[in-house]
Amino acid sequence: MIQLEDPSDQAVVAKFFEADQGHLFDDWEQLDSLARRHLLTDMHRIDLRFLQQLIRDHLDSDAAEAPIAAPTPPDWIPLTDPGRETATEIGLHALRQGEVAVLLVAGGVGTRLGHAGPKGSYPLLPISGGTLFQVFAESLVRLRKQVGRHIHWIIMTSPSNHEQTVDYFQQHSFHGLAPSEVTIQPQEQLPVLDPRRRKILRAGPGRVLFSPDGHGGSIRLLQKISEDLRERGIRHIYSHQVDNPLARIADPELVGLHLREKSSFTSKAVAKTDPEEKVGVFCKVGDRLRVIEYSELGPNDRVRTEPDGSLCFRAGNVATHVIDLDFIAPQSAGGPLQLPFHVARKAVRHWLDGRWHEASSLNSVRFETFIFDVLPMADRGLVVEADRALEFAPVKNGEGADSPATSRAALQKLWANWLVECGVQIEFDDNGAPLRLIEISSRLAGDAEQLRLALEGVVIAPDGPILLR
Ligand code: UD1
Repeated sequence: MIQLEDPSDQAVVAKFFEADQGHLFDDWEQLDSLARRHLLTDMHRIDLRFLQQLIRDHLDSDAAEAPIAAPTPPDWIPLTDPGRETATEIGLHALRQGEVAVLLVAGGVGTRLGHAGPKGSYPLLPISGGTLFQVFAESLVRLRKQVGRHIHWIIMTSPSNHEQTVDYFQQHSFHGLAPSEVTIQPQEQLPVLDPRRRKILRAGPGRVLFSPDGHGGSIRLLQKISEDLRERGIRHIYSHQVDNPLARIADPELVGLHLREKSSFTSKAVAKTDPEEKVGVFCKVGDRLRVIEYSELGPNDRVRTEPDGSLCFRAGNVATHVIDLDFIAPQSAGGPLQLPFHVARKAVRHWLDGRWHEASSLNSVRFETFIFDVLPMADRGLVVEADRALEFAPVKNGEGADSPATSRAALQKLWANWLVECGVQIEFDDNGAPLRLIEISSRLAGDAEQLRLALEGVVIAPDGPILLR
């Protein structure tokens, strides 16, 4: 074992050797003093006992992979529910009182999209090249005007994209938001392992390979900052994902339904029509709501239909939730909610045994938690149907389904329909796509009615692209 002057460094090295992770020091002799310091800093950051517990519970035991027992389709508040409209006023009241903060989960590494940099900096908008971050920030600028006060925005990054995200917002002057309105904080990370020998993988000689601990890390982050949030008067968290430009941020209707139904965790869901669409679905197990991932739903349940032909398990998770702060970070006895961990197997380039291993097979395991895993712990949860065309067009892959092309097409259709509702003449092709390029800033409008007000006195040219900012 290597010998070090600092007793705390020596103790941490000894712990890793005892835990059969001494290979992390294989390159020690070749590292310069800075690289050695980096490695030791990484070692100090790892909670080795916790990692060993995760390995025992999830990799050494088969029970962890057991399928979810007997899921049944959940109830949801359908689009046609007559009580939805009155909920909006309740939600607006909570927003005006400053009780709602918005949480953007943006800590993912976004490898599928193939965009260098945080996913939120992807230039999605079809005319201006504006980014996903811009869409969300400008929605908040509009909401600030609508409710007469700012809505606090929490952006969860991960250590690998945190600095880039902070730089992005500084360079773009927070897209019109005051920096004090925005909290940007990284989630935590865990080491990535070799699935066979349980060895911690390396990102290069002398560097540990870490990955973010899943978007459930946002629950731990909220618990950590709960006191600050309470001091700001915040009681409910409205969370959404970075990949969906159609996410309706701080939607008063959803907030209102959450409050009216006295729910602790309320989610939006779109009706899934293709059984193979890769979204999680809401289900009930016993009397508890939960999300079951696409891959976990049995083949029979996946295609099972109601008498009217709709899928039984059709409440597709769009990852927009309202969560009570007191539910996840209770002030009374009992302590903060703990999330279960899941194992993800991924292909990753890494350094082990003195050489590079390419990302050609599922050669790594990592541990992740999911934000929606607190839902089964809620005595009262709620699922609310959302209209897919208005609220869900994620950007996940570089091409094909859920790509920038499909997301832009959905935005174009939506904006064109708003314009038509405002009396602007727009022509469409046979697939319902507008023949003109359209872009409407979320600073201006979040629906057709808001656009109608914004367009008063505005003349739209009879042809060419329509850019409304
Ligand atoms: C997710 C949901 C799925 C849902 C779909 C809707 C899971 C396991 N599944 O799938 O139920 O139907 O979105 O689009 O979440 N993130 C972090 N930190 C992390 C990992 C991810 O902040 O450690 C963020 C990402 O930046 C992104 C979001 O979480 O905003 C979704 O992550 P991703 O892994 O892409 O989820 P999906 O597999 O697409």
